[in-house]
Amino acid sequence: MIIRKSAQEIESMARSGDLVSETLVLVGEAIRVGVTTAELDEIAEKHIRSRGGTPTFKGYRGYPASICASPNDMVVHGIPGPYPLKEGDILSVDIGVTLGGFVSDCAYTFSVGALAPEAHRLLDICQQALVAGVAECRPGNRLSDIGHAVQTVTEAAGFGVIRTLVGHGVGRSMHEDPQIPNFGAPGRGPVLAEGMVFAIEPMITVGTHEVVLHDDEWSISSEDGSLAAHFEHTVAITSAGPRILTRHPQPTRARLVEEPASRAG
Ligand code: MF3
Ligand code: CO
Repeated sequence: MIIRKSAQEIESMARSGDLVSETLVLVGEAIRVGVTTAELDEIAEKHIRSRGGTPTFKGYRGYPASICASPNDMVVHGIPGPYPLKEGDILSVDIGVTLGGFVSDCAYTFSVGALAPEAHRLLDICQQALVAGVAECRPGNRLSDIGHAVQTVTEAAGFGVIRTLVGHGVGRSMHEDPQIPNFGAPGRGPVLAEGMVFAIEPMITVGTHEVVLHDDEWSISSEDGSLAAHFEHTVAITSAGPRILTRHPQPTRARLVEEPASRAG
């Protein structure tokens, strides 16, 4: 059952959305060569608690940290630890916050220093896929229109969409109905209606869409070792269309290792 939220409940969700966004920005500001993912986790947890929130992920099915920090070929659910960031890395950071009884969920793939052109393009396309998915979040559309839009953008760029990980409804619980795949034919599934709130989260790779689960039983990487990206917003469906309840850090303007060939004449 898809739980629809009242206007007042959506305002509460917007407050948890503000806190999770603020936390993601703070983590982004701390990202530089040599910082460990455990340090980023600590920054996030402190900030969330200082504002009266709870890190939703901590203790969720035994998950040991407040954020997921997934470098390079890791797609999602990377457990923060002693890994020090290196020049040229990408790092997907996923954060959930519970505030006033409501959860917001948000993710962003950051770059560490200068990126190779392919990594740069991956982040760009994943953000475009998120924008395309969010744009479908309007009353009268069907659920699968979201995944179709994500898949279309991703595959047009030659990248792969992960099949086994999905977006989801979000509210008093982190994971509510429906599941929201990032692929599929359009025009299927429930009709979208005002008051539904969804976590839209494309997870894509440069190569295969197959993934592997690591021995820690959490972290998931691309099977072929290709780079992966993950961007996520919590989005309310309103009569006027999608309302993004989370904000992201400034769009990735990663430095490229090589300048693009095109030069103004
Ligand atoms: N944020 C993830 C999602 O969108 C859930 C993370 S699982 C956790 O579904 F254990 F890390 F919380
Ligand atoms: Co999510």
